[in-house]
Amino acid sequence: MDKLIIRGGKQLKGEVSISGAKNAALPIMTSSILASGENTITRIPDLMDVRTMGRLLSNMGARYSYNQGIVEIDTSSINKFEAPYELVKTMRASVLVLCPLVARFGRAKVSLPGGCAIGARPINLHLMGLEKMGAKIRLESGYVIAKANRLKGASIYLDTVTVTGTENLMMAAVLAKGTTILENAAREPEVIDLANCLISMGARIKGAGESVIEIEGVDELKPLKNYAIIPDRIETGTFMSIAGITGGDLILKDCRPEHLDAAMMKLKDTGVIFKETKRGLRVIGPQNLIAKDVKTIPYPGFPTDMQAQFMAMMTIAKGTSVIKETIFENRFMHVAELKRMGADISIDGGTATVKGVEKLKGAPVMATDLRASASLIVAALRAEGETTIHRIYHLDRGYEKMDEKLKKLGADIERVKG
Ligand code: EPU
Repeated sequence: MDKLIIRGGKQLKGEVSISGAKNAALPIMTSSILASGENTITRIPDLMDVRTMGRLLSNMGARYSYNQGIVEIDTSSINKFEAPYELVKTMRASVLVLCPLVARFGRAKVSLPGGCAIGARPINLHLMGLEKMGAKIRLESGYVIAKANRLKGASIYLDTVTVTGTENLMMAAVLAKGTTILENAAREPEVIDLANCLISMGARIKGAGESVIEIEGVDELKPLKNYAIIPDRIETGTFMSIAGITGGDLILKDCRPEHLDAAMMKLKDTGVIFKETKRGLRVIGPQNLIAKDVKTIPYPGFPTDMQAQFMAMMTIAKGTSVIKETIFENRFMHVAELKRMGADISIDGGTATVKGVEKLKGAPVMATDLRASASLIVAALRAEGETTIHRIYHLDRGYEKMDEKLKKLGADIERVKG
């Protein structure tokens, strides 16, 4: 297993390009199932999760290739309507094949994802919505088995705002007979990107990005042609945290700052400065960060996927910061590791209280999930001495060439293969 060795204390400087968004790439790749033929998608990041999705599509009989950010998927040869446990257990987003398979082929067998490091993460709302659209669903030996003739439009209220739930049901509705209304839908930019991609395939969708989405089903969709996905807002936010904690001066190229309003407002309060420039968004970290409280909320609120990185910044901020995680019940796995580096953090349920300390000290630490691994990098770049981050396969699932990008910005970082 690879590990990263970081010697902290460098002020990072320079330009970095933001990659395509993992959480837009995955649903958009599965949307290709909805049409028969050659699909091309561009700006796809080279990530472990993207490779897993490629394997899943190939396993169904699709012809899949990846070359320098361009994915080609020929879905005319799909002949197996299954997402096996072996693949779903390594990537929960595999569940995004469920609705496209039922919508186009009338059946699917998808392994239940089960819990993961950050919480129980059920898919009951995906199943409830699909049932409302006429699918017959049973659970058997850990698999969801869904069958349907043509799906029918329905009014669906989602009790909890769910990103992949909204995406899955949107993909069911585009080929259903009649109109579907999704209420209390997720409003994330990735949901809008998927809607735009589906519209480019011929779907009729109104209201993506709002909490009520209306979808009028069509008989057939055409394959995706050169659809370019949006930049990764969480990678963008992670580099903002890195500029913030190292007192750095970065230019983030190819990003969409408007997707990060809440996070940027919070970072400004901590002392980070943002300037729009011709080359990209300039982010300047202050000499001393100021502690601020934060609460994670579905978009347009402060993203749960930025909570761990923000917490890492707060460990050396002046004052005390109260961080509330409201989306996932177990998303504080990074706390124990940050404490190994000298952070002063206490947890009470979904609330972490972070008292800023003068300095962090390098230590051996372990990545427990994707964003936790990002937070350890943020902390290690500031810490005195050497930090070794173990289990960075979590990082490789969702950040494209993070260590190489950091090295170009002046970080003292080394990947040790193992
Ligand atoms: N939930 C239910 N029932 C459902 C679905 C969700 O109770 O049927 C609950 C979840 O347990 C959770 C809340 O609703 O408490 C929100 O979960 P959501 O469904 O929105 O999460 P997700 O769709 O599984 C996506 C991202 C996550 C990101 C969350 C929240 C993808 C592939 N994943 O997950 O990304 O944290 O939305 O914004 O889009 C990451 O990239 O590190 C990551 C975990």
